[in-house]
Amino acid sequence: METKNIRTSRFENIQYTVSGEGYAVVLIHGFPLDGTIWNEVVDKLSKKYKVIVPDMPGSGGSISRETDLTVEDMAESVRSVLDNEGVSSAVLAGHSMGGYVALAFADLYPSMLKGLVMLHSSAQADSEEKKAQRRKVIELIEKGGKEPFVKQMVPNLFSGSDGKKSYLEGTLETALRTPPGSLVAFYNAMINRPDRTGKLSNNDLAVAWVIGEDDSIIPKSSLIQQTTLTNVNFVYVYKNCGHMSMMEQPDMLMKDLDEFLIYCYDARN
Ligand code: MLT
Repeated sequence: METKNIRTSRFENIQYTVSGEGYAVVLIHGFPLDGTIWNEVVDKLSKKYKVIVPDMPGSGGSISRETDLTVEDMAESVRSVLDNEGVSSAVLAGHSMGGYVALAFADLYPSMLKGLVMLHSSAQADSEEKKAQRRKVIELIEKGGKEPFVKQMVPNLFSGSDGKKSYLEGTLETALRTPPGSLVAFYNAMINRPDRTGKLSNNDLAVAWVIGEDDSIIPKSSLIQQTTLTNVNFVYVYKNCGHMSMMEQPDMLMKDLDEFLIYCYDARN
């Protein structure tokens, strides 16, 4: 795994890792985490593919001082990474907030997208209730409440099944490293993102939906109804899994991602 840093017109530093060779797949992390959440999947996928893992601006090794960040800005940072790698098309797999970024990328650069994986992620915009909840969290964080918020939030990412503790601690550490200003910026980006279900509707883009039976952040019921929006869809629903299949069900995820990638790169052409 090689770590690289680039400066873009918008961001002081975008950090990403590249592993393996072959067709490109980009793994985009969610909130409030960074690219390290994919480590186990990268080990496996990079035996067959070129796996690119960016840190979103303001998380991990990527620096951003923006508070008015948008999902489109984050999509542009992914584009800069692909350009730096000389990659003209890729499958994008976005986890939760990373899925919102991948959908923005699909809007901005459709010809660069070979397929889209929506991991525990939705094409819908926030409801008014959700926006109000997020604004309260922003207030809390701005008053210095980052740590209690993160400590309360992170355990909810996982299902209650056995083994939870083994990855909970590491995930909490990762989340606590994210600066408060970045958490606010990501929440603003999520509040302001548009509904993109219309864009997916009747679209020929191949989309894989990965859904956790026990996801309490983006419930299965709200995702199942989106899985038939596009004309080509793969649907994977995991038992004993909350919002974090890359840690809760890495073997199954690897197998299913491989199936989807084979479709996007071989079967479809
Ligand atoms: C995430 O996991 O990226 C976020 O929890 C998604 C969200 O809050 O909508």
